[in-house]
Amino acid sequence: MCGIFAYLGPKTNAPELVIEGLKKLEYRGYDSWGVAAQANNRIDSCKKVGKISAYQVGDHNFAASSLAIGHSRWATHGGVTEANAHPHFNADHSLALVHNGIIENYAEIRADLESKGHKFVSQTDTESIVHLIDFHLKSMSLEEAVKKAMSEMHGRYAILLIKADEQKIIAARRGSPLIIGIGQGEFFVGSDIPAFLEYTNQVNYLDDDQMVIIDQEKAQFYDLKTNSPIEKRLITIEWQASQAEKGDYPHFMIKEIMEQKETIRRALEQDDQEIQKIAEAIKGAFGTYLVGCGTAGKVCLAATYQFSHIGHRHVNFAVGSEFSSLQDFIKDRSLMIAVSQSGETADTLEAIHAAKSKGAKVLSIINVKGSTMDRESDFALHIKAGPEKAVASTKATTAQMAVLTLLAYACAGRLEAGKKLLLDTQSQINDMLNPRYEDHIRTLADQIAKVESMYIIGKGVNYAIALESAIKLQEISYIHAEGFASGELKHGPIALISQSTPVIALISNDQSRKDVLNNCQEVKARGAYVIGIAPENDAVFDFWIKVPDAGEAQGIVNIIPIQLLAYHLGLLRKNDPDMPRNLAKSVTVK
Ligand code: AGP
Ligand code: GLU
Repeated sequence: MCGIFAYLGPKTNAPELVIEGLKKLEYRGYDSWGVAAQANNRIDSCKKVGKISAYQVGDHNFAASSLAIGHSRWATHGGVTEANAHPHFNADHSLALVHNGIIENYAEIRADLESKGHKFVSQTDTESIVHLIDFHLKSMSLEEAVKKAMSEMHGRYAILLIKADEQKIIAARRGSPLIIGIGQGEFFVGSDIPAFLEYTNQVNYLDDDQMVIIDQEKAQFYDLKTNSPIEKRLITIEWQASQAEKGDYPHFMIKEIMEQKETIRRALEQDDQEIQKIAEAIKGAFGTYLVGCGTAGKVCLAATYQFSHIGHRHVNFAVGSEFSSLQDFIKDRSLMIAVSQSGETADTLEAIHAAKSKGAKVLSIINVKGSTMDRESDFALHIKAGPEKAVASTKATTAQMAVLTLLAYACAGRLEAGKKLLLDTQSQINDMLNPRYEDHIRTLADQIAKVESMYIIGKGVNYAIALESAIKLQEISYIHAEGFASGELKHGPIALISQSTPVIALISNDQSRKDVLNNCQEVKARGAYVIGIAPENDAVFDFWIKVPDAGEAQGIVNIIPIQLLAYHLGLLRKNDPDMPRNLAKSVTVK
């Protein structure tokens, strides 16, 4: 959550450059934003409530500067106000700090400093950090003051600090991501790579309990636990800057939905031996646990059906935030499969740490190479979807499902059959994603744009996809949407159905079809408007969205019309599909 970006180098438009970089990270948080730049031994700053994309060059008259830090906020502590926007300062504005995460003991730190005369101007946890550093600075160097403050703060965070009279950036991390971009005689710090990809693809990752001091010459890393300098190997990022741009599309969400014409195929570009090795690890494990949050969690639930049906394996599933309550079952021979687009989700990372503390092995299925999960796992499979910037996950979802389907086939010793099925699915998706198809879904969106509630039902893997559909529709349309196992309706939820309530049924051409169609009849008898997403039409449907018959990959194709429906409902309801209210792309707080 929250975008952080900083620049230090020969260019003299650092504040405007930082604002442009923050715009590329806006998907990480968009309540308010702010920039602080060092110029003439003072710190110039600008803070605003609202989205940074509204800023235009010249809106604030920055002095020439070659050192600036900035932040795009997702509020955790304190309302969305200018006073709470980052950066935060000490009393004489000689220090400026931006922060991602939560300081759990901020109230104690603040009370202690207030009793010593420090005056606070915001309600944030962040302001306590800059005052704490300021307090220590009276008796030690800047570097020592940051280290001392780090040792006293509890929680997960990443911070960047500048001082009015020193040409350096100090960055430190425990839990939240920070990446250092190394350019030609210039340095960037970002919470995600797209912020600086147009300048450099050479990076160093800051790990937990590490600090980096960047001056005009170099970036020097330190291990805060051993208090010693460390050397880092430069990593080359393979993404192209253009992949992280909208191109001709009005929104990232629709661009990323359309990219599914090729992302399944890319997800299949895996090393066969590695897949077989992981399949053996699943077979040999003393319990396999799939863990993910939000959409990634629904992908995990879908995979439990795939592993059962295709791989004849029992795998467990828990959402990241619940895993700590289930970890007593974990043994040193257990395997965790963590699924995440960003590789930075705090709840999933905490589950990984819990599993590792019991000696279990961890496989991560992730999109962002070099992310914390990538670096902390025993094995990693990259889904290769390219940068996903819309808050709503689309292409990463289906790519994750493809990789997990492949693993399920590998567990059954049928890797080639799995590949063939998924390649066929790729060409079916390619045919499906055409303008006429989108128009058909737009017609449905027009019909239901004003409803208050809708329900999505499915059986088997389609039950998991119904839950994922509900997330997609909630976050983009803000309509109350809920997913159910279709057989569960009669045990309670059917009471919610009244005249014209939309019920979307997700259907596969298998033995579950008959049951779901019966459940459709049951809701129709109570007035529901039944929308079928199915390879074949049926008299019970009031509206039919045809999907290809993709066999064991039906879950992958069935979610795509829902993604399009959510997008068009969002547009009709005047929502911003890329930056839905209250959300952020990468959830790095618990
Ligand atoms: C997806 O549409 C959501 N915005 C959200 O549920 C997301 O999938 C979740 O926060 C997990 O993110 P991750 O895949 O980066 O771990
Ligand atoms: N906890 C801080 C705040 O509420 C930082 C939030 C963030 O990560 O954006 O301001």
